[in-house]
Amino acid sequence: MEVQHIQVNHCPVKKDKPNTDQLKFGRVFTDHMFIMDYSEYYGWHDARIVPYQPLTIDPSAMVFHYGQSVFEGMKAYHTADGDAQLFRPEKNMQRFNRSNDRLCIPPIDENFVIDAIKKLVSVDKDWIPEADGTSLYIRPFIISTESYIGVAPSLHYKLIVILSPVGAYYKEGINPVKIVVENEFVRTVKGGTGEAKTGGNYAASLKAQEVADHKGFAQVLWLDGVEKKYIEEVGSMNIFFKINGEVVTPALNGSILEGITRNSVIQLLKHWDIPVAERKISMEELQQAHEDGLLEEAFGAGTAAVISPIGQITWNNNDFLINGEKTGEIAKKLYDTLTGIQYGREQDPFGWVSKVREKVSKIAQ
Ligand code: COI
Repeated sequence: MEVQHIQVNHCPVKKDKPNTDQLKFGRVFTDHMFIMDYSEYYGWHDARIVPYQPLTIDPSAMVFHYGQSVFEGMKAYHTADGDAQLFRPEKNMQRFNRSNDRLCIPPIDENFVIDAIKKLVSVDKDWIPEADGTSLYIRPFIISTESYIGVAPSLHYKLIVILSPVGAYYKEGINPVKIVVENEFVRTVKGGTGEAKTGGNYAASLKAQEVADHKGFAQVLWLDGVEKKYIEEVGSMNIFFKINGEVVTPALNGSILEGITRNSVIQLLKHWDIPVAERKISMEELQQAHEDGLLEEAFGAGTAAVISPIGQITWNNNDFLINGEKTGEIAKKLYDTLTGIQYGREQDPFGWVSKVREKVSKIAQ
């Protein structure tokens, strides 16, 4: 892709910022956003940072009809020395392009988009909250914008990045959540779009999530879509169990989202010499482990959810209470270490963090 400059059009009037002690997830957006367009002729072009604003899009734009869209989730963290940093942004961009490929969306230049995100974050740097457990959530997404209602890959797209200061994803904060195993609906199957980060997967999960929510569960635990036997993921995070000293997580099988936090957890566990396995795990095995007193911990991992301990799993009206519904030792150590690295409080032996200002100078003002 031809090197592009990013035009910056600053917002004349800044919005009031929220009280960072009471931040919820995803309700408030910053002063600016990034946009670039795609057409077959120009490729990705016209990269710009503009005041946060509504979009004007034709009602016949293909995204409204056939859902050709992908997104990513990342965070910028405020460090004690006043810097801002991202966590493994190259991993998000690689996954963005894998999702693009699955949805027939043209690939992006990964380094360019990372630079654009850094530029946007530095323009809205004052929005990065400083209170404990808060961060600036970054939502890059692509939508198909061609005006056409035939079913085909669109010839036009917009890539947009918006920013939102956030607190904990779950209302429980970092306390253990209750989840329920979904036996009726399926989220996706192998060969479908499960491993792509596309809105349709989340739309498909809403019905089960609504029922779970009414029954007081934070989330749904999805099983494989064919046999409804093997554990896959929780809608907003990957899942881990500690069974008899070993940490087990479902192996990536084409329908599970390849989480960046998931990958980081596996690397940390290996670094600490804690046994970890990526393999198939059935609900029967989990139930047996629970009955035998060997299900020691369960927790989820995701960008929004960070490390989220799971205190109860309900399956066919049986409640498995885990670790006395308290945060387990491994979940706590993982949370402390990951957030320690992300906020720059701890050494980063893996080279995971990336300073926001490093590359910004290379982008034209
Ligand atoms: C994330 O963890 O960033 C996600 O995209 C999950 C979403 C359901 C909030």
